[in-house]
Amino acid sequence: MKTNVNAVVGIQWGDEGKGRIVDYLAQDAEIVIRFQGGDNAGHTVVNDLGKFGLHILPSGVFNKNTMNIVSAGTVVNFETMKEEMDAIKEKTGIKLENVFIDVRAHLIMPYHKDLDGAEEGKRSEGAKIGTTKRGVGPCYTDKAARSGIRAGDLLDEKFLKARLEALLPKKNRELEYYGLKPYTLDELLALCAKWKEEFGSHIIDSVPVVRKAVEEGKKILLEGQLGIMRDNDWGIYPYTTSSNPTASGACNGAGIPPKAINKVYGVIKCYSSSVGGGPFMTELFDETGDKLRTIGAEYGVTTGRPRRVGWFDAVASDYSCYMNGITDLALTKLDILDTFEKIKVCTGYMIDGKEYHYLPETRLQEKAQPIYMEVDGWMEDTTKARKWEELPKKAQDYILLIEKLLKTHITYVSVGPERDQLIVR
Ligand code: GDP
Ligand code: IMO
Ligand code: MG
Repeated sequence: MKTNVNAVVGIQWGDEGKGRIVDYLAQDAEIVIRFQGGDNAGHTVVNDLGKFGLHILPSGVFNKNTMNIVSAGTVVNFETMKEEMDAIKEKTGIKLENVFIDVRAHLIMPYHKDLDGAEEGKRSEGAKIGTTKRGVGPCYTDKAARSGIRAGDLLDEKFLKARLEALLPKKNRELEYYGLKPYTLDELLALCAKWKEEFGSHIIDSVPVVRKAVEEGKKILLEGQLGIMRDNDWGIYPYTTSSNPTASGACNGAGIPPKAINKVYGVIKCYSSSVGGGPFMTELFDETGDKLRTIGAEYGVTTGRPRRVGWFDAVASDYSCYMNGITDLALTKLDILDTFEKIKVCTGYMIDGKEYHYLPETRLQEKAQPIYMEVDGWMEDTTKARKWEELPKKAQDYILLIEKLLKTHITYVSVGPERDQLIVR
């Protein structure tokens, strides 16, 4: 079977520039699928229609001819999805008839959001995950506990009522434990009825259509949210999200057999950033960090929080390339380093007096001191480069160094947020 299914995943701590890469790759895609996560995402897309911060909608929505699916692996808040769709419709005139939600996607209910805030509030300083408080964690908790409500449930009132009746007493006890207001069955049923009215025609079983497209070799893009460092299994647990933003998570969440995956694009920023708690080995607390944050505009798209920033971590990224089976890298934000005389790259860690050249698990990461190599910056504007040859030699050297350290081909280099500010190698 000759397929054309490609996945795009974040291979750091999130915010690598996935939105802009998916937007670029989606231009001729038949289907774009968001395969995990919820409206905790903030994917920035800048194209001829304007600048957008997408939270739950796949980044192919601007393309009329692309079908966009929010798949089984996601958790959906229909309130924020409606707000996002209305804002895009108003700004662009696009009707968004090309957005569909799989019947199996789980619904973020109002109590999930309440509980996310309350659970985070109970965590002690230092143990805080820094969640986006969108209800993502509590919704996945209910999914795993088999107490979730799924998009397809909205279409069957009798079934929905029975599900809510069964789970509500326990949910309300949980809310009361945190001193929060309980919900009545009637108010939740009314909310679900409103969602059915607004989204009923967009809720589909995506399997037949996706399977047909896979088997016919149509171009399909799988869009990940966040990055592997916040993967529930392979990230910095417990400072993780509650799903798997990896290539294997893409297969699972989108309903794609592993053998159908063609390319796995790893989006990687040429320095590092992280939002929320947990270890972050190359974090900078000095003026260099402030400069990176300011020039890189490192503030959260979803929460507005200042992002933690640091140098490029080749050890963590090498782990990510292996775990995801990355075939091609898209290196973003090269231009942000244009005015740095010296640039550091982490090539190892010192932990308890021992040198490490692989990424150990969270508790050891918390004690890790980075080992750096230093290279000269290029001190030239790269934003106008559109070809490899137009990049300064020292910028080329930096890119080739990353390629060598990660043993993975860098296919795209982005030098600005606009769609055309991209070098294809
Ligand atoms: P995502 O969550 O991975 O999609 O990334 P975000 O959208 O949260 O963060 C990436 C930010 O960097 C956005 O503001 C993008 O517009 C911006 N961006 C992406 N690529 C480039 C680039 O090459 N240069 C510059 N200067 N900005 C970029
Ligand atoms: P994109 O897709 C950066 C972080 C939160 C928190 C942890 C768990 O734009 O890269 P959650 O709300 O998911 O339970 O929070 O994950 N986080 C993100 N960090 N970018 C994101 O999305 C994020 N989504 C969640 O800060 O530490
Ligand atoms: Mg983001």
